[in-house]
Amino acid sequence: MVKLTGQNKLRTAVFISGTGSNLQNLIKFSLKKKSPIKIKFIVSNKKKVKGLIFSKKYNIDSKIYEYKNRLISEKKILKDLNKRKINLICLAGFMKILSNYFIKNFNGKILNIHPSLLPRYKGLDTHKRVIKNNEKYSGCTVHYVNSKLDSGKIILQKKIKIKNTDTPKSLSKRILVEEHKLYPRAILKIFSL
Ligand code: GRF
Repeated sequence: MVKLTGQNKLRTAVFISGTGSNLQNLIKFSLKKKSPIKIKFIVSNKKKVKGLIFSKKYNIDSKIYEYKNRLISEKKILKDLNKRKINLICLAGFMKILSNYFIKNFNGKILNIHPSLLPRYKGLDTHKRVIKNNEKYSGCTVHYVNSKLDSGKIILQKKIKIKNTDTPKSLSKRILVEEHKLYPRAILKIFSL
């Protein structure tokens, strides 16, 4: 647990590639008094994604990186993070894998949320695979990011029971509700004011 002082809320960047429901949820959390984070920057690797509306809505600086070449984009991102003195990154549906270079050169912590009970079901299409395998449970995990996909140290997990009637879509919806509770809880577990 890292204890922060009043003025020292973590300057946080959220990385997205899509809808941004976790982003919106983290923004709302960041506005609470007890929150140890303030969101200063939104990074997207895609233009015109829904999540970018929250940049306007909440007046948070954002930038799109084309990602034609990963290293070039990562160098640009690192420079922009430095400029803004960012010390925490929350990946929230970011569909690019961060390189070792990026991880080593970012001066702070990097967290991710993944919609499965890691270490099971890393990668894409988790809900589809979970249902296909007739699993009884699934859930979501917040973890530190290391250079291997969805493999960093686990911070918190939430398990839910799968219903007979669940489809990948219904399961994803129910897990998303849990994700929105879990991400702030995981942040509060590692940092306190
Ligand atoms: C979430 O299920 C998250 O766990 C996964 O991608 C999805 C992003 O959803 N990594 P949203 O863009 O936050 O709505």
